[in-house]
Amino acid sequence: MVQLSLPKNSKVNKNGKVYPAPSAAKKVKRFKIYRWSPDDEENPRIDTFFIDMDNCGPMVLDALIKVKDEIDSTLTFRRSCREGICGSCAMNIDGTNTLACTRAISDIRDDVKIYPLPHMHVIKDLVPDLSHFYEQYKQIKPWLQAKEPKNQDKERLQSPKDREKLDGLYDCILCACCSTACPSYWWNSDKYLGPAILLQMYRWVVDSRDENKDERLDFLNDAFKLYRCHTIMNCTKTCPKNLNPGKAIVKIKQSMLSKV
Ligand code: SF4
Ligand code: SF4
Ligand code: FES
Repeated sequence: MVQLSLPKNSKVNKNGKVYPAPSAAKKVKRFKIYRWSPDDEENPRIDTFFIDMDNCGPMVLDALIKVKDEIDSTLTFRRSCREGICGSCAMNIDGTNTLACTRAISDIRDDVKIYPLPHMHVIKDLVPDLSHFYEQYKQIKPWLQAKEPKNQDKERLQSPKDREKLDGLYDCILCACCSTACPSYWWNSDKYLGPAILLQMYRWVVDSRDENKDERLDFLNDAFKLYRCHTIMNCTKTCPKNLNPGKAIVKIKQSMLSKV
């Protein structure tokens, strides 16, 4: 059984458990964290943790690790690199989808409110189910498609100008912050690919070495996979790597037009 993070008629119990800071703590910050476990019959709740900031690292991920290590070992979240590279610590912090490892606690003025990525099914606490997202990634065949080179001993060359076209695309870490901030993706993720997967698709469409551009564009040419984007730009606003998936989508639409 999985739980949708913020269901309609949400019954999230805001009066979850409260964990006070040690009595000697002088600089205390309040963290409100979404909790839900498939192992009990309870509704989601918000637990409150008062953290001693003199004994905590600077990033939101540091606070989560402190809670897990010292206060409640059942708190569940994903993380790996702790430097904005793996994308696994994506969650909703202070109302914005972002990476817990690069979000500084000192930049958040009031309580630190932490939820899973919105509109996704939740496996436990802050861990969303990304199976469908990765299934969509698989659909776009995210690898170089080209005939075998005549000379197997030579690299596939690319001019510096063509290589530059991949900047802002190859840097995507597939964290899903953008797709889960996109209203079109919320309502149509069964058929609409969403900004992250479309940015990844554009990365191959624009790669001068790829020989399957037409097939890639044909794959996108229906009412939903691409054209459900209405240029609302939530995706670009939220990307923690400062990429521009909204622009990548516009570029794909332009490539469609130049194909006709
Ligand atoms: S475009 Fe940005 S927000 Fe979207 S998946 Fe890539 S890195 Fe994450
Ligand atoms: S620009 Fe398109 S993909 Fe980005 S949030 Fe808006 S509808 Fe979604
Ligand atoms: S832990 Fe890898 S991006 Fe945050």
